[in-house]
Amino acid sequence: MAARAKTFVCQNCGAATARWSGRCDACGEWNSIAEEGVAASGRGSRKGRLFVIEPLKGEPLHTPRLAAGIAEFDRVTGGGLVRGSVLLLGGDPGIGKSTLLIEVAAAYARNGHRAVYISGEEAVAQVRLRAERLGLGEAAVELAAETSVEDIVATLSHGKAPQLTVIDSIQTMWTQTVEAAPGTVTQVRGSAAELIRFAKRTGGVVILVGHVTKDGQIAGPRVVEHMVDAVMSFEGEGSQHFRILRAMKNRFGPTDEIGVFEMTGTGLREVPNPSELFLSERDLGSAGTAVFAGIEGTRPLLVEIQALVAPTSLGTPRRAVVGWDSSRLSMVLAVLEAHCGVRLSGHDVYLNVAGGLRITEPAADLAAAAALLSSLAHAPLPPDAVYFGEVSLSGAVRPVGQTAARLKEAQKLGFTKAITPEAARKEATEGFAITPIGGVSSLVADIAQGGTPPGQRSGGRGR
Ligand code: TYD
Ligand code: MG
Repeated sequence: MAARAKTFVCQNCGAATARWSGRCDACGEWNSIAEEGVAASGRGSRKGRLFVIEPLKGEPLHTPRLAAGIAEFDRVTGGGLVRGSVLLLGGDPGIGKSTLLIEVAAAYARNGHRAVYISGEEAVAQVRLRAERLGLGEAAVELAAETSVEDIVATLSHGKAPQLTVIDSIQTMWTQTVEAAPGTVTQVRGSAAELIRFAKRTGGVVILVGHVTKDGQIAGPRVVEHMVDAVMSFEGEGSQHFRILRAMKNRFGPTDEIGVFEMTGTGLREVPNPSELFLSERDLGSAGTAVFAGIEGTRPLLVEIQALVAPTSLGTPRRAVVGWDSSRLSMVLAVLEAHCGVRLSGHDVYLNVAGGLRITEPAADLAAAAALLSSLAHAPLPPDAVYFGEVSLSGAVRPVGQTAARLKEAQKLGFTKAITPEAARKEATEGFAITPIGGVSSLVADIAQGGTPPGQRSGGRGR
């Protein structure tokens, strides 16, 4: 008789053990282990079935990619969704995942593809209400409110297989192949596996919505991220209207592209020129802000970096960063202290990237340093200047890639000068001044000239 195997699975990391314990040995989480059974079916001893092995050389698909016609979405997917692929879209609750996907489904339907939207969270009427609000009431999207994976696969296998199936969300789905409550790691993994098999079999695209856990992981543990072809995350600050679609993993495309949207009263609007949006509410003439000429994927992006350096009232000064890497901030601060004699140990330091954007490029070092120095010296930077360059531990400013594209974008948006690494000197054009600097110490000297000398400032401490 086939015995039902009982296992204990950590709901945080997915590790399986034979015995229950209060704390997971794999990830250290307390009270995260739950008992889960695996149905015995499919485990019986069965002879292997013979299958066909094909040569690598062969007929590729004619149109392997399906573009939605939403430029910001297609850019992130690498030029459209690849047939038979499965994509996981993660994001905080209320960020606009369902809104984005109903718009994507409508776009595919408009192009004559069969698009199905399955909601496990909302009733059909609610999804319809949202579509109407988005002006998509007439779109030929097929809707259902279902949570059983077997029923979904059976229904969709009937007739022409859909080119696009949206599952909102994977945490609400459940499959009979595993014996666990919906939302548990085992169910999420089992349901995802079934849906992935469905996508590969029919050649249709499946998009799974995944909720983000408290520590920022999609669909609970990493299990589903490894199973799917692409992982996208939809990000944004709750109070801001910008939404950024970012590829975190993509088997068929780049992972450094971003798509920028704006959430409006009637749905998501594409933002073809994000620099304009990110710089639209600039606080001109105040100290502590610098404009960084960055690159996101293939696209230049100008964004404001804001810094606040203030004398600390605590024993240990605070360092807080939003939108940038905190270890890079520590590095820039250390370089300023060690090579330029800028004393920051008595100051709190706050750094923020405006607009809710997250920057990963080292090229932002120079802009961050400029913003920090500007705040410290109470010296506003020239409002028509952009900054970029990587700062090395020796205090030198190192060259970065795609200089020409950065400068062109700055010029397009009305900037007239750039503070750059030495290598950018040759890129100077008429009407646009380039100030190459070899090291951060010259930046310190330049900025200090425009500010109040430290000794005469009120509130200065520890100097
Ligand atoms: P939703 O797509 O339901 O988010 P998710 O599926 O990621 O949980 O979006 C919900 C939020 O979006 C909600 O706060 C209202 C806002 N919203 C708009 O501002 N405009 C719109 O047209 C729509 C449909 C939603
Ligand atoms: Mg939703």
